[in-house]
Amino acid sequence: MTLLSLEFILVAVLVICDVKAQFTPFYEEVTSGGKESYSSVEIENQTEEDDQGEPSRRNFEDLLQKIHGNIPNTEEISNSANQILYMTQRLLEEGFSFEKVTSDSVAAGIKDALILRGICKSPTVYKCNALSPYRTIDGSCNNIQYPERGKSFVAQRRAIGPAYKTGTVGGPRVTGVTGKPLPNPRTISNVIHSNKYGVTINGTISLHTFQMGQFLDHDIIQTPLETVTGGCTCEENTRPECISIKIPEGDPFFTKRACLPVKRSAAANPDCTPGFRQQLNTLTSYIDGSNVYGSTEDELTELRDGGYMKTSSENNLPENPNDGCVIDHNGEFCHLAGEARVDAVPSLASYHTLFVMEHNRIVNALKSINPSWNVEKLFQEARKINIAQMQHIVYNGFLNAFLSLDTMITYNLLSLNTGYSFSYDPKRDATVSNEFGIAYRMGHTWIPTYQDLYSDLNIRLLGPEMGPFDLVKTFNNPHLTFLNRKKGCPALLKWLTSEASPATDRFVEDSVRNRLFEDSPGDGFDLVSLNINRGRDHGLPPYGDHRVSCGYSAVTSNWNSLVDHNTEEVELLRQVYDDPRDIDLFTGLLTERAITGSSLGPTLNCILGREFQNLKEGDSYWYERPEPQGFSIAQLNEIRKTSLSAVLCANLDLTRIQSDAFRLPGISNYLVRCTNVPSIDLRKWKSGTQRLKPGYGRETQQRNLQTGQMDMDAQSSQSDILQELIKLASGGEK
Ligand code: HEM
Ligand SMILES: *[C@@H]1O[C@H](CO)[C@@H](O)[C@H](O)[C@H]1NC(C)=O
Ligand SMILES: *[C@@H]1O[C@H](CO)[C@@H](O)[C@H](O)[C@H]1NC(C)=O
Repeated sequence: MTLLSLEFILVAVLVICDVKAQFTPFYEEVTSGGKESYSSVEIENQTEEDDQGEPSRRNFEDLLQKIHGNIPNTEEISNSANQILYMTQRLLEEGFSFEKVTSDSVAAGIKDALILRGICKSPTVYKCNALSPYRTIDGSCNNIQYPERGKSFVAQRRAIGPAYKTGTVGGPRVTGVTGKPLPNPRTISNVIHSNKYGVTINGTISLHTFQMGQFLDHDIIQTPLETVTGGCTCEENTRPECISIKIPEGDPFFTKRACLPVKRSAAANPDCTPGFRQQLNTLTSYIDGSNVYGSTEDELTELRDGGYMKTSSENNLPENPNDGCVIDHNGEFCHLAGEARVDAVPSLASYHTLFVMEHNRIVNALKSINPSWNVEKLFQEARKINIAQMQHIVYNGFLNAFLSLDTMITYNLLSLNTGYSFSYDPKRDATVSNEFGIAYRMGHTWIPTYQDLYSDLNIRLLGPEMGPFDLVKTFNNPHLTFLNRKKGCPALLKWLTSEASPATDRFVEDSVRNRLFEDSPGDGFDLVSLNINRGRDHGLPPYGDHRVSCGYSAVTSNWNSLVDHNTEEVELLRQVYDDPRDIDLFTGLLTERAITGSSLGPTLNCILGREFQNLKEGDSYWYERPEPQGFSIAQLNEIRKTSLSAVLCANLDLTRIQSDAFRLPGISNYLVRCTNVPSIDLRKWKSGTQRLKPGYGRETQQRNLQTGQMDMDAQSSQSDILQELIKLASGGEK
């Protein structure tokens, strides 16, 4: 087949696309064969919630959508991605091989044609300042050669290729190796993840591990959903944007519902090239305080107040004018933060508050040390220090609360005690991986069943505001943060400091496994089902494939090949799966036997270890690097002193705290006076002690991202051919 005839089909496909002027992700039409369902999308009447008026405030689908972020331009991105998927699928059905369709020359032709027709945007030209001492807000230009790596609004990376529905480039994985349908996610959840034994706690780990875990997730990844007019319902899983979960017969909890309505993750293809369906990340992948500062310039503008971050008068987070959470008390409001999911639970909002307070504290200190600094300098330096502290805390306290020392060493996750780190590797892509977005949900096993407010003395607040508070009542409801005379956040942080974490195991508490976002009995969600379902939505290969990718033995049709699982777990898996090769990633990971020195199994240690290595070695602004991206040695040595305990002491009216706040106080983690907790001395930031490298601000590097590898002549001749073909196909007129 010549290139020319292939492009002819391409043009024909483009013309078909045009006839269907309105977007529907119809690429799946071919495989699901249900034309009717698409037309029904268009004529269907909108539901009340969907009208311009106030959305129903306790509609769980809205809440779920909010959890994924209601980001306006994802719709546009998913539209073009779905068009490309459709064309890819059509070309495959015309008999072209996948290799051919995705080959450089064809891909370039398709891209040109789509840009020409306004379906894709022209590639962005980045003007990167290679010597800038500060990160961009959207993560672009962190990697000078590939400016979009780790940026917000790019597709998630894949460590291994996808496993979508057979014969499709984006249909959810639905069948197992034997061709039979995969087990229902809710059945798997009921059999394997239901906590029949009550909450077991880990007597050494504190709840900060849980809360930092979620907070950090909201610095790294947020996957937006498809926009679905009228929402997803139970009858229409034929709608390609929906992936609702059927409630199996005889479900022990959901007795009145047919399904959990779920939207698919938005399709993404920011590169505008043919290939498999990908998913978007609306945040920057880097550990760079996306949760505090946002992931776009527009978000930051809303959040910033000169050198400071905006606060409300009581030192709470500022008010979110667009609302979006549940308010059931006068004078309370939803929070505005760098990340939309801030009010998912009150203790998460308390973390956002902590790091906004820390930013403002640093600004105050820098201001008195350097009275001559302007607000921009104050803001950027404080942001840089705040982010450096976050990185230091994650790699020196958080990660080793669940990864083994062996993993920390293997993946180069240990920070140095002296000198600079030279482990930055420009070839390493820090863009978050799709498998991490599922694997890191292992933190759902740490979710406690309640929230609580503690006093300075590490005891529950007394009086009318006395807890504990049922977690289910706190989803998307910031009420607790307004208790304690509007100082609920410090009291929540003290609770996290003093109480034990639920143990890491396959069990997820019913608060989120049956009652996530519940409004009235039985109308909630199952977070475990969502996790399993989401993996299939993303076409993530099953557990066994990830083992192989990590260098471990393959999973075969023989149940004995599950060498890192105990008999009890193997028996349970056997009850639901036809074949061990079908085991979903989330479930396979959470049922692994923990390795020595870690609370997680080997494959989780590997997937998480790899990701945190990428986030370190792929970050040119990693805090242990020299200037201009990093710090002077004297400054770096100050950052090395910090800890979560130090940040808590600096911002709460605490007198004592354990040295390592991710663990409970005890032998080898004594309570110490805050004045004795090592902390950062910001006097090392006095101007004059900080040298800027010569040439700073003058050298800029310019790169055209997507046409970088392509010879300009070849490019224009290709689009010439295409223009000719388009002319031809549309009957001679331009
Ligand atoms: C009360 C606490 C929490 C709640 C209510 C919660 C809820 C949720 C929900 C509803 C989703 C989206 C599910 C879907 O539709 O696919 C989600 C995703 C996720 N959660 Fe949690 N979660 C909590 C805590 C945590 C913790 C502690 C961690 C990690 C340590 C974590 C990591 C993740 C990750 C990585 C995702 C995927 C994010 C994305 O790609 O958009 N979550 N969570
Ligand atoms: C849709 O709305 C129109 C006008 O409000 C009404 O006449 C029609 O019966 C509705 N159709 C359906 C399917 O509900
Ligand atoms: C508690 O966590 C630590 C650190 O991850 C782990 O080594 C230990 O086995 C865990 N203990 C329990 C009872 O889960």
